[in-house]
Amino acid sequence: MCGIVGYTGPRPAVGLMLDGLRRLEYRGYDSAGLAVVEDGRIELRRAAGRIAALEQALGSERPTGTTGIAHTRWATHGAPTEINAHPHTDCGDTLALVHNGIIENASALRTALAQRGHVFRSETDTEVLVHLIEDLYARDGTLADAVAAALRQVEGTYGIAVIATREPDTIVAARHGSPLLVGIGNGENFVASDASAVLAHTRSVVYLDDGEIAVITPRDHRIIDLRSVEKAKAITHVEWDLATIERGGYAHFMLKEIMEQPESVRNTLRGRLLEEDGAVHLGGLNLSDEELLQIDRIVITGCGTSWHAGLIGEYMMEELARLPTEVEYASEFRYRNPIVDERTLVVGISQSGETADTLAALREAKRRGARTLGLVNVVGSTIAREVDGGIYLHAGPEIGVASTKAFTSQIAALALLTLQMGRLRSLSILQGRQVVRALAGLPDLVERVLARAPEIERLAGRLADASNVLYLGRGYNFPVALEGALKLKEISYVHAEGYPAAEMKHGPIALIDELMPVVFVAPQDAVYQKILSNVEEVKARGGRVIAIVTEGDTNVARLADHVIEIPETLDLLTPVLSVIPLQLLAYYIAVRRGTDVDQPRNLAKSVTVE
Ligand code: AGP
Repeated sequence: MCGIVGYTGPRPAVGLMLDGLRRLEYRGYDSAGLAVVEDGRIELRRAAGRIAALEQALGSERPTGTTGIAHTRWATHGAPTEINAHPHTDCGDTLALVHNGIIENASALRTALAQRGHVFRSETDTEVLVHLIEDLYARDGTLADAVAAALRQVEGTYGIAVIATREPDTIVAARHGSPLLVGIGNGENFVASDASAVLAHTRSVVYLDDGEIAVITPRDHRIIDLRSVEKAKAITHVEWDLATIERGGYAHFMLKEIMEQPESVRNTLRGRLLEEDGAVHLGGLNLSDEELLQIDRIVITGCGTSWHAGLIGEYMMEELARLPTEVEYASEFRYRNPIVDERTLVVGISQSGETADTLAALREAKRRGARTLGLVNVVGSTIAREVDGGIYLHAGPEIGVASTKAFTSQIAALALLTLQMGRLRSLSILQGRQVVRALAGLPDLVERVLARAPEIERLAGRLADASNVLYLGRGYNFPVALEGALKLKEISYVHAEGYPAAEMKHGPIALIDELMPVVFVAPQDAVYQKILSNVEEVKARGGRVIAIVTEGDTNVARLADHVIEIPETLDLLTPVLSVIPLQLLAYYIAVRRGTDVDQPRNLAKSVTVE
C-alpha cells in the first residue's frame, strides 16, 4: 500500500531515498515525507501529494544526514495532508517513524499514551507507534529493544522503519503483514518495501518474515524476533535489473507492459511445455502426482484482476481436468466458514504476492488442512514463501497499477496447471498435445493483436466522451468482459460494467440506448451462436456495438458499429487474445481523458491492508 525506503551509509541519504521513493510511488501516492539524523537532530520534511511535491518542499537546501527513512503514502487513517504524512516523530523529536499497514488497537494505545502526557499531532494510527517506542526507550536501552517491546503491545499489520538521534547511524525496521526487505550494500545498507527501490545499488536482499525486526547500520545488519532472539536469514539475489523497471521510452508503464505481453507470455511458458507427452513440467508445485491425484476439489481465490483470471481457471479446470472448481473473492472467503479439507487444493492468484486478503485466505485454507498453491509474479513475496507450492509467472515487474501482462500470464499459468491436473485424470495425450501446441503458438498471436493498436487508438477517440460502457461476454470471455470493464473504470474513471451477455435480458438491457456503448467479446468459440443473438438484442434497442471478433468474422461484424479482430485459437486460450484490445481501449481512452494512467486516483498496486 505505502512505500518505505531507508538508507544508512557514508552518502547523503536524501537523494538516494528520493530515487527509491520514485520507484515505490505506484504503491501509494497521496503524500510523502522523509527524515534524516543530522547533528543530533531529526531533520523532517513532508508534503501532501506526489514525490514531486516533497522535492519542492525540500528546495535546494537539502539535509545532508547519512541515515534516514522515507515514505510514500496511501491513506487509511487520516486525510492525505502534510500533518498526516509520514514520518511521524515523538514528543521530543528524537525519534522518527514510517509505517505501512493498519494499527488496529491504535485508539486504545493513544488514550493510554495521552494519559501519560504524550501529545499527538496527527489523526493517524501510525503516530501511536512512535510515542509508544518513546515511552519504552529507556535511558540505557537500545532502540531495537524499545521497538520490540512496543510491537509486543501492537495489534494489526505493519512494516515500519525507525531512526533515533541517540543511535544516529542505526535504522530499526520490523514487519508483520506488510512486505519489507533489507538491501545489503557495500559499506551501506537499505530497507525497502520492495526490491525496486534498491536495485540501483544492490541486488542482494534479505526478505523479512512476520514477527522479525532488522537492526541496520552501515556495516552490519542483524535480524531478531520480538523477544530479541537472533535469527539467521538467507540473502537472496534479485534477478530483475534496473532496465526492467524503467519505462523504456513508452509514455506509460501500462503501455509498456501491454506491449511486453508476447515476451511475458513466452516467459511464463518457457521450459514448461512437453509437446511430445501433451503435458507440462511445473517444477515448483511441490506436490507429487500421487498427491495431486488425491485432490477432489479446487478453490481458486484472489482479488480484482486476479479474481477474474481465477474465473477463467474455473472454466478450464472443469472442462479439461473434470475437477469441481470454485472461485472465491479472497476478502469473502477468509471470513466465511469455508468447507475445505486435505483433498482440497486452494490456489491463490496474486501478481504482487502481498495482497492482504489473498494471503489471509490462503492462511485460512492452510489452517483447515487444504493444500495451497500460489500463482504469483513477484519472486520472494509473502504468498510465494507461505504456500505449499506454486507457479511463478515470470512476467517481469509490473509497475502500472492497472494489471495487464500479469493477467495474460495468469491465464497461461492456469492453462499449465489445468494440463497438469487433466493429464493425471481424463485428458488424453492427443488433447494435451493440442493445448500444448496452442500455448506454444500464443505469443505470436499476441503480437498480431498488438499490431492493431493504431486502430484501437482511433476507436478510443470515438468512445472517450462516454460516461457509461457495458462489457458483455460468454463462457471463457465473460471474465474478460469483467476485466475490460475494470480496466476502463480504474484508469479512466468512466463507469463500466461487465456482464454475462445472456444476463442482459434479466435487467441491464434497460440501460441500452444510442448513448450506451456496448463492448461484446465475441470470438468464434463454443457459445458464438448464443452471443450473436445477444448482439442482435442490443442492436434492436439502438445500442452502439463494439465487438471483439475472430479474424474474418462476418456475422457479428455485420451487426456491430466497430469490430476489432483477433486471431483464432482454442476456446480456453481466447481470453489471452481478446483482453488485449480491451486493455488498449481503456489505455487510449484514459490518455484522451488526461487521467494519471500509471497511478490512478485512490488506487495502489498491492493492497496490503484489508
Ligand atoms: C488490477 O488492475 C488492480 N490493480 C487490482 O484489481 C489487482 O488486480 C488486485 O489488487 C489484486 O492484486 P494482486 O494480483 O497483486 O493480488
